[in-house]
Amino acid sequence: MLEGRKQRSFISAGAVMQLTAIACLLPIAATLHCAQDKRRTEASDAKQGRRIGARAVFEAACASCHGLDARGGERGPNIISGPDVVHKTDRELFKILRDGKVAEGMPSFASYGPAKLSALVAYLRMLQGRSKETALPGDPAQGKMLFFGKAKCAECHMVSGQGGFFAQDLTTYAAGMDADKVRTAMVNPNKDLDPRRALVTVILADSTSLTGVARNEDNFSLQLQTPDGVFHLLNKSDIRTMTFSGRSPMPSDYASTLSSVELNDLVSYLLRASRSEKARKAESNAQAGDEE
Ligand code: HEC
Ligand code: HEC
Repeated sequence: MLEGRKQRSFISAGAVMQLTAIACLLPIAATLHCAQDKRRTEASDAKQGRRIGARAVFEAACASCHGLDARGGERGPNIISGPDVVHKTDRELFKILRDGKVAEGMPSFASYGPAKLSALVAYLRMLQGRSKETALPGDPAQGKMLFFGKAKCAECHMVSGQGGFFAQDLTTYAAGMDADKVRTAMVNPNKDLDPRRALVTVILADSTSLTGVARNEDNFSLQLQTPDGVFHLLNKSDIRTMTFSGRSPMPSDYASTLSSVELNDLVSYLLRASRSEKARKAESNAQAGDEE
């Protein structure tokens, strides 16, 4: 009984849809209403279409040389995980597609126009992101919790607009880096440290002392940032001594205070953050390209 009812309503929904479609095809019923419907679906399909469109173009025009998965074929190199291509900017990729490298066997696709080429670049970026996605050494969600919690990274660093501003914004820091490199930067902040970026202790004429990082310095003044993020503009004439510690303000004991699983989670969080930022940029570039 219930089955029957379900069946009936299913059929009638289908019939209604069909009727609407037919009605919109009839010239006599081509009212404003149908036109509006069409515009609405076109708008919502547009974004999706760009991706699907770019994929179809890739499969028709590029796959014969670069392979269906873009990991390389007989006549073209891997274009999603080779370091060469990952480190190129969107603009550089765009230029390669537009101008080709004819002597090396890569044709020019200038005839596609900027919108289609931007969509192809965005599509390559998406494939690149996905291929690296599998190589995350840990869990980025756990890493985010550590970053803003126990590990206290967010007291000094910002990611995606949240956190402190004493140290570098890490939103795009890990772009194009491998996990080992990010891990080394985290556990060994004193490696290759520029001594002028080390912690400095300044003692003023009135004996007050301030410890922080020298952000700007000229013959007459020093701008010192303390770990609470505050900038202090000091006159050189007021400074009695200035001692560079040779150590980064960043804690150097994460290798012992965090487990290797936690370190991997943090590394994964930074890698993921820079990838989603990159994907977001590629997406908005593709849209800008389409509107030209
Ligand atoms: C006839 C074969 C062929 C076709 C078709 C082709 N490519 Fe290529 N492509 C190559 C070759 C060969 C190279 C390497 C050129 C070189 O040695 O620098 C290349 C290089 C590239 C590079 C630069 C890689 C790097 O590491 O710098 C990109 C990006 C690229 N192709 C994308 C595409 C896209 C997207 C399409 C489709 C619109 C496409 N290619 C179609 C053969 C081809
Ligand atoms: C007390 C402040 C502080 C804390 C806490 C801190 N950092 Fe840092 N970090 C710094 C400073 C200062 C630098 C040096 C670069 C700069 O001045 O921005 C740095 C550098 C880095 C770099 C290298 C950036 C580069 O350009 O080479 C990474 C990666 C990094 N921190 C990640 C982290 C992570 C992850 C955490 C938490 C586990 C963390 N930091 C905690 C202050 C801090």
